[in-house]
Amino acid sequence: MNRPLEKALFDFSAKSDSRFFMPALTFDVTELEATGNLYQDSGIIADSEREAAAVAGVPALLYSAGGSTLCIQALFAEFFHENDRILCARSSHKAAIHAMGLLGLEPVWISSSPGLCGRIDTDSMIAKIRNGEADGVFVTSPDYFGICADLPALSAACRQAGIPLIVDAAHGGHLPLLGLDNPISLGADGCAVSLHKTLPALTGAAAVYLADPLRAESVRRRMSVFGSSSPSYLIMLSVERCYDYLQTAEAEWLALAESCNALRAAAGNVLMPSVDDPTRLVYNLSGLDEVSVRKITKDCRIICELLDAQCAVLIPSPLNSDEDFARLKAFTAALGRLQRHLADCPVIPASSRAMPLRQALLADAESVPIRQAAGRICAEVVSLCPPATVLLAPGEIIQPEMLDFLFSTGILSVNVIK
Ligand SMILES: Cc1ncc(COP(=O)(O)O)c(C=O)c1O
Repeated sequence: MNRPLEKALFDFSAKSDSRFFMPALTFDVTELEATGNLYQDSGIIADSEREAAAVAGVPALLYSAGGSTLCIQALFAEFFHENDRILCARSSHKAAIHAMGLLGLEPVWISSSPGLCGRIDTDSMIAKIRNGEADGVFVTSPDYFGICADLPALSAACRQAGIPLIVDAAHGGHLPLLGLDNPISLGADGCAVSLHKTLPALTGAAAVYLADPLRAESVRRRMSVFGSSSPSYLIMLSVERCYDYLQTAEAEWLALAESCNALRAAAGNVLMPSVDDPTRLVYNLSGLDEVSVRKITKDCRIICELLDAQCAVLIPSPLNSDEDFARLKAFTAALGRLQRHLADCPVIPASSRAMPLRQALLADAESVPIRQAAGRICAEVVSLCPPATVLLAPGEIIQPEMLDFLFSTGILSVNVIK
Protein backbone atom coordinates (compact mmCIF):
# COMPACT_ATOMS: atom_id res chain seq x y z
CA MET A 1 0.00 0.00 0.00
CA ASN A 2 1.09 3.64 -0.53
CA ARG A 3 -0.55 4.54 2.79
CA PRO A 4 -1.95 7.92 1.64
CA LEU A 5 -3.36 8.80 5.06
CA GLU A 6 -0.07 8.18 6.86
CA LYS A 7 1.79 10.23 4.23
CA ALA A 8 -0.67 13.12 4.60
CA LEU A 9 -0.35 13.07 8.40
CA PHE A 10 3.47 12.96 8.27
CA ASP A 11 3.53 15.86 5.79
CA PHE A 12 1.08 17.81 7.87
CA SER A 13 2.87 17.25 11.18
CA ALA A 14 6.22 18.30 9.62
CA LYS A 15 4.82 21.77 8.87
CA SER A 16 5.65 24.52 11.31
CA ASP A 17 2.57 26.58 10.43
CA SER A 18 0.70 28.14 13.32
CA ARG A 19 -2.17 25.93 14.35
CA PHE A 20 -5.49 27.57 14.97
CA PHE A 21 -7.75 24.53 14.87
CA MET A 22 -8.88 22.26 17.64
CA PRO A 23 -5.87 21.46 19.87
CA ALA A 24 -4.24 18.30 18.50
CA LEU A 25 -1.41 15.90 19.23
CA THR A 26 0.95 14.98 16.38
CA PHE A 27 -1.35 12.66 14.38
CA ASP A 28 -4.49 13.19 16.39
CA VAL A 29 -5.81 15.87 14.11
CA THR A 30 -9.17 16.99 12.79
CA GLU A 31 -10.71 17.28 9.30
CA LEU A 32 -8.70 19.85 7.35
CA GLU A 33 -7.83 20.24 3.71
CA ALA A 34 -4.51 18.53 4.36
CA THR A 35 -5.91 15.63 6.36
CA GLY A 36 -9.04 14.64 4.44
CA ASN A 37 -12.49 13.70 5.69
CA LEU A 38 -13.78 10.22 6.48
CA TYR A 39 -17.27 11.18 5.38
CA GLN A 40 -16.32 12.40 1.91
CA ASP A 41 -16.31 10.14 -1.12
CA SER A 42 -13.04 11.50 -2.46
CA GLY A 43 -9.72 12.63 -0.99
CA ILE A 44 -6.96 11.12 1.11
CA ILE A 45 -9.11 8.77 3.17
CA ALA A 46 -11.14 7.52 0.19
CA ASP A 47 -7.81 6.88 -1.61
CA SER A 48 -6.59 4.92 1.39
CA GLU A 49 -9.84 2.92 1.50
CA ARG A 50 -9.49 2.00 -2.19
CA GLU A 51 -6.02 0.62 -1.51
CA ALA A 52 -7.31 -1.28 1.51
CA ALA A 53 -10.18 -2.72 -0.59
CA ALA A 54 -7.61 -4.08 -3.04
CA VAL A 55 -5.70 -5.71 -0.17
CA ALA A 56 -8.90 -7.20 1.26
CA GLY A 57 -10.04 -8.31 -2.20
CA VAL A 58 -13.46 -6.66 -1.95
CA PRO A 59 -15.25 -4.26 -4.35
CA ALA A 60 -15.59 -1.50 -1.72
CA LEU A 61 -14.34 -0.87 1.80
CA LEU A 62 -15.08 1.96 4.23
CA TYR A 63 -13.07 2.74 7.38
CA SER A 64 -14.76 2.88 10.76
CA ALA A 65 -13.30 4.52 13.85
CA GLY A 66 -16.38 3.34 15.77
CA GLY A 67 -15.78 -0.41 15.70
CA SER A 68 -18.02 -2.98 14.10
CA THR A 69 -20.86 -1.47 16.10
CA LEU A 70 -20.92 1.53 13.75
CA CYS A 71 -20.48 -0.71 10.68
CA ILE A 72 -23.46 -2.84 11.69
CA GLN A 73 -25.64 0.22 12.30
CA ALA A 74 -24.78 1.64 8.86
CA LEU A 75 -25.27 -1.71 7.09
CA PHE A 76 -28.65 -2.29 8.72
CA ALA A 77 -29.77 1.24 7.82
CA GLU A 78 -28.64 0.70 4.23
CA PHE A 79 -30.04 -2.76 3.57
CA PHE A 80 -33.05 -3.08 5.88
CA HIS A 81 -36.22 -1.01 6.34
CA GLU A 82 -38.39 -0.17 9.33
CA ASN A 83 -40.49 -3.15 10.49
CA ASP A 84 -38.38 -5.63 8.50
CA ARG A 85 -38.15 -9.10 10.02
CA ILE A 86 -34.47 -10.00 10.37
CA LEU A 87 -33.57 -13.66 10.61
CA CYS A 88 -30.71 -14.05 13.08
CA ALA A 89 -29.32 -16.35 15.76
CA ARG A 90 -29.52 -15.72 19.49
CA SER A 91 -25.74 -15.68 19.41
CA SER A 92 -25.89 -12.29 17.67
CA HIS A 93 -23.89 -9.58 19.44
CA LYS A 94 -25.81 -6.93 21.35
CA ALA A 95 -24.44 -4.30 18.95
CA ALA A 96 -26.69 -5.87 16.30
CA ILE A 97 -29.70 -6.11 18.58
CA HIS A 98 -29.31 -2.49 19.61
CA ALA A 99 -29.04 -1.48 15.94
CA MET A 100 -32.24 -3.41 15.16
CA GLY A 101 -33.97 -1.64 18.03
CA LEU A 102 -32.83 1.81 16.93
CA LEU A 103 -33.97 1.18 13.36
CA GLY A 104 -37.30 -0.42 14.22
CA LEU A 105 -36.36 -3.89 12.92
CA GLU A 106 -37.66 -7.07 14.54
CA PRO A 107 -35.47 -10.14 15.06
CA VAL A 108 -36.79 -13.54 13.98
CA TRP A 109 -34.71 -15.91 16.08
CA ILE A 110 -33.15 -19.05 14.75
CA SER A 111 -31.72 -21.76 16.96
CA SER A 112 -28.15 -22.99 17.12
CA SER A 113 -27.21 -26.62 17.75
CA PRO A 114 -27.15 -27.18 21.54
CA GLY A 115 -24.04 -27.16 23.71
CA LEU A 116 -20.82 -25.25 23.72
CA CYS A 117 -19.90 -23.80 20.33
CA GLY A 118 -23.28 -24.55 18.74
CA ARG A 119 -23.42 -23.95 15.01
CA ILE A 120 -26.17 -21.86 13.42
CA ASP A 121 -28.84 -24.19 12.10
CA THR A 122 -28.42 -23.40 8.38
CA ASP A 123 -31.21 -25.72 7.25
CA SER A 124 -33.87 -24.11 9.37
CA MET A 125 -32.58 -20.67 8.40
CA ILE A 126 -32.92 -21.57 4.72
CA ALA A 127 -36.37 -23.07 5.33
CA LYS A 128 -37.53 -19.80 6.92
CA ILE A 129 -36.03 -17.76 4.08
CA ARG A 130 -37.86 -19.93 1.50
CA ASN A 131 -41.04 -19.70 3.52
CA GLY A 132 -41.03 -15.91 3.28
CA GLU A 133 -40.55 -15.45 7.05
CA ALA A 134 -37.74 -12.87 6.72
CA ASP A 135 -37.02 -9.59 4.96
CA GLY A 136 -33.31 -9.85 5.61
CA VAL A 137 -30.71 -12.18 7.15
CA PHE A 138 -27.96 -11.37 9.64
CA VAL A 139 -25.31 -13.88 10.70
CA THR A 140 -22.15 -13.75 12.78
CA SER A 141 -19.30 -15.46 10.97
CA PRO A 142 -16.88 -16.38 12.42
CA ASP A 143 -18.56 -16.44 15.80
CA TYR A 144 -16.87 -16.04 19.15
CA PHE A 145 -15.70 -19.67 19.00
CA GLY A 146 -14.14 -19.41 15.53
CA ILE A 147 -17.02 -21.13 13.76
CA CYS A 148 -18.04 -19.84 10.32
CA ALA A 149 -21.59 -19.96 8.97
CA ASP A 150 -22.35 -21.66 5.66
CA LEU A 151 -22.41 -18.36 3.77
CA PRO A 152 -22.53 -19.81 0.22
CA ALA A 153 -25.71 -21.76 1.08
CA LEU A 154 -27.29 -18.83 2.94
CA SER A 155 -26.43 -16.30 0.25
CA ALA A 156 -27.86 -18.55 -2.48
CA ALA A 157 -31.13 -18.79 -0.54
CA CYS A 158 -31.14 -15.02 0.08
CA ARG A 159 -30.52 -14.25 -3.57
CA GLN A 160 -33.34 -16.53 -4.60
CA ALA A 161 -35.68 -14.84 -2.13
CA GLY A 162 -34.44 -11.36 -3.11
CA ILE A 163 -33.39 -10.42 0.43
CA PRO A 164 -30.03 -9.09 1.70
CA LEU A 165 -27.47 -11.06 3.70
CA ILE A 166 -25.40 -9.04 6.17
CA VAL A 167 -22.52 -10.63 8.07
CA ASP A 168 -20.91 -9.69 11.38
CA ALA A 169 -17.29 -10.72 10.82
CA ALA A 170 -16.05 -8.74 13.82
CA HIS A 171 -13.78 -11.66 14.75
CA GLY A 172 -12.65 -12.44 11.21
CA GLY A 173 -10.20 -9.72 10.16
CA HIS A 174 -7.26 -12.16 10.20
CA LEU A 175 -8.95 -15.08 8.41
CA PRO A 176 -7.65 -14.22 4.90
CA LEU A 177 -4.15 -14.71 6.33
CA LEU A 178 -5.13 -18.30 7.07
CA GLY A 179 -6.46 -18.91 3.57
CA LEU A 180 -10.15 -18.37 4.40
CA ASP A 181 -12.35 -16.24 2.13
CA ASN A 182 -13.95 -12.99 3.27
CA PRO A 183 -17.77 -12.97 3.62
CA ILE A 184 -18.22 -10.84 0.49
CA SER A 185 -16.48 -13.43 -1.72
CA LEU A 186 -18.78 -16.02 -0.14
CA GLY A 187 -21.92 -14.13 -1.18
CA ALA A 188 -22.71 -11.57 1.55
CA ASP A 189 -24.00 -8.14 0.51
CA GLY A 190 -22.16 -6.37 3.30
CA CYS A 191 -20.08 -7.21 6.32
CA ALA A 192 -18.49 -5.61 9.38
CA VAL A 193 -14.92 -6.45 10.36
CA SER A 194 -13.38 -5.33 13.68
CA LEU A 195 -9.66 -5.13 12.98
CA HIS A 196 -8.93 -4.48 16.64
CA LYS A 197 -10.23 -7.86 17.81
CA THR A 198 -7.62 -10.09 16.21
CA LEU A 199 -5.10 -7.84 14.43
CA PRO A 200 -2.67 -5.23 15.74
CA ALA A 201 -4.97 -2.20 15.51
CA LEU A 202 -6.28 0.36 17.95
CA THR A 203 -9.54 -0.35 19.74
CA GLY A 204 -12.37 0.92 17.54
CA ALA A 205 -10.54 0.14 14.27
CA ALA A 206 -12.95 -1.58 11.89
CA ALA A 207 -14.21 -1.60 8.32
CA VAL A 208 -17.32 -2.19 6.25
CA TYR A 209 -16.95 -4.42 3.18
CA LEU A 210 -19.50 -4.11 0.37
CA ALA A 211 -20.28 -6.37 -2.59
CA ASP A 212 -21.68 -3.49 -4.62
CA PRO A 213 -19.37 -0.45 -4.86
CA LEU A 214 -22.34 1.67 -5.94
CA ARG A 215 -23.62 1.36 -2.38
CA ALA A 216 -20.47 2.92 -0.87
CA GLU A 217 -21.63 6.53 -1.03
CA SER A 218 -24.90 5.76 0.68
CA VAL A 219 -23.29 3.56 3.36
CA ARG A 220 -20.74 6.31 4.05
CA ARG A 221 -23.59 8.77 4.58
CA ARG A 222 -25.23 6.37 6.99
CA MET A 223 -21.97 5.95 8.90
CA SER A 224 -21.91 9.72 9.34
CA VAL A 225 -25.42 9.56 10.82
CA PHE A 226 -24.44 7.09 13.54
CA GLY A 227 -20.75 7.91 14.02
CA SER A 228 -18.99 10.78 15.72
CA SER A 229 -18.54 13.82 13.51
CA SER A 230 -14.95 13.85 14.81
CA PRO A 231 -13.69 10.33 14.02
CA SER A 232 -10.27 9.61 15.50
CA TYR A 233 -7.39 9.98 13.03
CA LEU A 234 -5.26 7.72 15.21
CA ILE A 235 -7.81 4.94 14.78
CA MET A 236 -8.12 5.59 11.03
CA LEU A 237 -4.35 5.54 10.68
CA SER A 238 -4.30 2.27 12.55
CA VAL A 239 -6.88 0.85 10.08
CA GLU A 240 -4.67 1.85 7.17
CA ARG A 241 -1.60 0.31 8.79
CA CYS A 242 -3.53 -2.85 9.49
CA TYR A 243 -4.27 -3.38 5.78
CA ASP A 244 -0.62 -2.74 5.02
CA TYR A 245 0.27 -5.35 7.67
CA LEU A 246 -2.16 -7.85 6.09
CA GLN A 247 -0.01 -7.85 2.95
CA THR A 248 3.01 -9.21 4.76
CA ALA A 249 1.76 -11.14 7.77
CA GLU A 250 0.70 -14.47 6.26
CA ALA A 251 3.77 -16.45 7.35
CA GLU A 252 3.50 -15.40 10.99
CA TRP A 253 -0.22 -16.23 11.10
CA LEU A 254 0.31 -19.65 9.52
CA ALA A 255 3.01 -20.28 12.13
CA LEU A 256 0.56 -19.21 14.85
CA ALA A 257 -2.08 -21.61 13.49
CA GLU A 258 0.51 -24.41 13.60
CA SER A 259 1.40 -23.61 17.23
CA CYS A 260 -2.31 -23.67 18.15
CA ASN A 261 -2.82 -26.98 16.37
CA ALA A 262 0.21 -28.46 18.13
CA LEU A 263 -1.21 -27.31 21.46
CA ARG A 264 -4.54 -28.96 20.61
CA ALA A 265 -2.88 -32.21 19.54
CA ALA A 266 -1.18 -32.48 22.95
CA ALA A 267 -4.13 -31.25 25.00
CA GLY A 268 -6.73 -34.03 25.05
CA ASN A 269 -10.37 -33.10 25.33
CA VAL A 270 -10.00 -29.97 27.46
CA LEU A 271 -9.16 -27.93 24.35
CA MET A 272 -11.93 -28.13 21.76
CA PRO A 273 -11.04 -29.21 18.20
CA SER A 274 -10.55 -26.34 15.80
CA VAL A 275 -13.61 -25.72 13.67
CA ASP A 276 -12.86 -23.02 11.10
CA ASP A 277 -10.44 -20.57 12.74
CA PRO A 278 -7.47 -22.60 13.96
CA THR A 279 -6.18 -19.68 16.03
CA ARG A 280 -9.27 -19.48 18.27
CA LEU A 281 -8.60 -21.50 21.44
CA VAL A 282 -11.75 -22.73 23.19
CA TYR A 283 -11.42 -24.74 26.41
CA ASN A 284 -14.28 -26.93 27.55
CA LEU A 285 -14.52 -26.31 31.29
CA SER A 286 -17.93 -27.84 31.98
CA GLY A 287 -17.72 -30.28 34.88
CA LEU A 288 -14.39 -28.87 36.10
CA ASP A 289 -14.08 -27.29 39.52
CA GLU A 290 -14.31 -23.54 38.89
CA VAL A 291 -12.12 -22.55 41.84
CA SER A 292 -9.32 -24.84 40.62
CA VAL A 293 -9.70 -23.49 37.06
CA ARG A 294 -9.34 -19.91 38.29
CA LYS A 295 -6.32 -20.82 40.45
CA ILE A 296 -4.60 -22.49 37.47
CA THR A 297 -5.32 -19.44 35.32
CA LYS A 298 -3.78 -17.18 37.95
CA ASP A 299 -0.81 -19.43 38.69
CA CYS A 300 0.00 -19.79 34.98
CA ARG A 301 -0.36 -16.00 34.54
CA ILE A 302 -2.87 -16.31 31.71
CA ILE A 303 -5.50 -13.67 30.98
CA CYS A 304 -8.35 -15.11 28.96
CA GLU A 305 -10.63 -13.20 26.61
CA LEU A 306 -13.47 -15.01 28.38
CA LEU A 307 -13.48 -17.33 31.38
CA ASP A 308 -16.69 -18.68 32.87
CA ALA A 309 -17.99 -21.95 34.30
CA GLN A 310 -18.55 -23.47 30.87
CA CYS A 311 -15.60 -22.40 28.79
CA ALA A 312 -12.52 -20.27 28.32
CA VAL A 313 -11.88 -18.48 25.04
CA LEU A 314 -8.37 -17.27 24.27
CA ILE A 315 -7.32 -15.12 21.31
CA PRO A 316 -3.63 -15.64 20.60
CA SER A 317 -1.76 -13.57 18.04
CA PRO A 318 1.71 -13.45 16.52
CA LEU A 319 2.47 -10.78 19.12
CA ASN A 320 2.50 -13.51 21.80
CA SER A 321 6.02 -14.54 22.79
CA ASP A 322 7.51 -18.02 23.23
CA GLU A 323 7.17 -17.43 26.96
CA ASP A 324 3.43 -16.78 26.51
CA PHE A 325 3.11 -20.08 24.65
CA ALA A 326 5.11 -21.92 27.34
CA ARG A 327 2.62 -20.59 29.92
CA LEU A 328 -0.27 -21.61 27.68
CA LYS A 329 1.13 -25.15 27.47
CA ALA A 330 1.39 -25.33 31.27
CA PHE A 331 -2.15 -23.92 31.59
CA THR A 332 -3.54 -26.47 29.12
CA ALA A 333 -1.75 -29.36 30.77
CA ALA A 334 -2.92 -28.34 34.26
CA LEU A 335 -6.54 -28.02 33.10
CA GLY A 336 -6.22 -31.43 31.44
CA ARG A 337 -5.23 -32.98 34.78
CA LEU A 338 -8.38 -31.76 36.56
CA GLN A 339 -11.02 -34.35 37.15
CA ARG A 340 -14.15 -33.79 35.09
CA HIS A 341 -17.51 -34.47 36.71
CA LEU A 342 -20.54 -35.17 34.64
CA ALA A 343 -22.25 -31.84 33.97
CA ASP A 344 -25.50 -31.13 32.20
CA CYS A 345 -25.36 -28.86 29.23
CA PRO A 346 -27.45 -25.84 30.32
CA VAL A 347 -30.84 -25.78 28.63
CA ILE A 348 -31.76 -22.19 27.91
CA PRO A 349 -35.44 -21.49 28.59
CA ALA A 350 -37.35 -20.00 25.64
CA SER A 351 -38.54 -16.39 25.76
CA SER A 352 -41.50 -14.72 24.12
CA ARG A 353 -41.97 -11.16 22.93
CA ALA A 354 -44.42 -8.84 24.68
CA MET A 355 -43.41 -5.49 23.14
CA PRO A 356 -41.62 -4.37 19.96
CA LEU A 357 -37.83 -4.31 20.31
CA ARG A 358 -37.47 -0.57 19.68
CA GLN A 359 -40.21 0.40 22.11
CA ALA A 360 -38.62 -1.71 24.86
CA LEU A 361 -35.06 -0.57 24.15
CA LEU A 362 -36.00 3.10 24.34
CA ALA A 363 -38.53 2.87 27.20
CA ASP A 364 -37.87 4.06 30.75
CA ALA A 365 -36.43 1.18 32.73
CA GLU A 366 -35.55 0.21 36.27
CA SER A 367 -33.20 -2.38 37.68
CA VAL A 368 -34.82 -5.13 39.76
CA PRO A 369 -33.30 -8.14 41.57
CA ILE A 370 -33.61 -11.18 39.31
CA ARG A 371 -35.83 -13.02 41.81
CA GLN A 372 -38.43 -10.22 41.48
CA ALA A 373 -38.37 -10.06 37.69
CA ALA A 374 -40.95 -12.72 36.81
CA GLY A 375 -43.62 -11.40 34.45
CA ARG A 376 -41.76 -8.13 33.78
CA ILE A 377 -40.72 -7.00 30.31
CA CYS A 378 -36.99 -6.93 29.74
CA ALA A 379 -35.48 -3.58 28.69
CA GLU A 380 -31.95 -4.70 27.84
CA VAL A 381 -29.92 -7.41 26.15
CA VAL A 382 -29.12 -10.07 28.75
CA SER A 383 -26.39 -12.37 27.49
CA LEU A 384 -24.83 -15.57 28.72
CA CYS A 385 -21.04 -15.28 28.54
CA PRO A 386 -21.07 -12.23 26.29
CA PRO A 387 -21.24 -12.23 23.36
CA ALA A 388 -22.33 -15.84 23.01
CA THR A 389 -26.06 -16.23 23.65
CA VAL A 390 -28.83 -13.69 24.10
CA LEU A 391 -30.94 -15.00 26.99
CA LEU A 392 -33.35 -12.07 26.93
CA ALA A 393 -33.79 -9.31 24.38
CA PRO A 394 -35.56 -6.01 25.04
CA GLY A 395 -39.32 -6.51 24.79
CA GLU A 396 -39.26 -10.16 25.88
CA ILE A 397 -41.21 -11.26 28.90
CA ILE A 398 -39.25 -12.78 31.78
CA GLN A 399 -40.87 -16.14 32.48
CA PRO A 400 -40.84 -17.43 36.11
CA GLU A 401 -39.02 -20.58 34.96
CA MET A 402 -36.09 -18.44 33.74
CA LEU A 403 -35.26 -17.01 37.15
CA ASP A 404 -33.29 -19.96 38.55
CA PHE A 405 -31.38 -20.26 35.30
CA LEU A 406 -30.48 -16.57 35.19
CA PHE A 407 -29.48 -16.62 38.86
CA SER A 408 -27.29 -19.71 38.31
CA THR A 409 -25.37 -17.92 35.56
CA GLY A 410 -24.54 -15.07 37.94
CA ILE A 411 -27.14 -12.62 36.60
CA LEU A 412 -28.44 -11.05 39.81
CA SER A 413 -30.43 -8.10 38.48
CA VAL A 414 -32.04 -7.02 35.24
CA ASN A 415 -33.36 -3.80 33.71
CA VAL A 416 -37.09 -4.04 33.09
CA ILE A 417 -39.68 -1.66 31.67
CA LYS A 418 -41.05 0.65 34.39
C1 LIG B 1 -19.43 -10.73 17.38
C2 LIG B 1 -19.26 -9.27 17.65
N1 LIG B 1 -19.87 -8.38 16.85
C3 LIG B 1 -19.75 -7.05 17.05
C4 LIG B 1 -19.03 -6.56 18.09
C5 LIG B 1 -18.91 -5.07 18.26
O1 LIG B 1 -17.65 -4.73 17.76
P1 LIG B 1 -16.86 -3.40 18.18
O2 LIG B 1 -16.43 -3.58 19.59
O3 LIG B 1 -15.71 -3.37 17.21
O4 LIG B 1 -17.76 -2.24 18.00
C6 LIG B 1 -18.38 -7.45 18.96
C7 LIG B 1 -17.61 -6.94 20.11
O5 LIG B 1 -17.27 -7.64 21.03
C8 LIG B 1 -18.49 -8.84 18.74
O6 LIG B 1 -17.89 -9.72 19.54
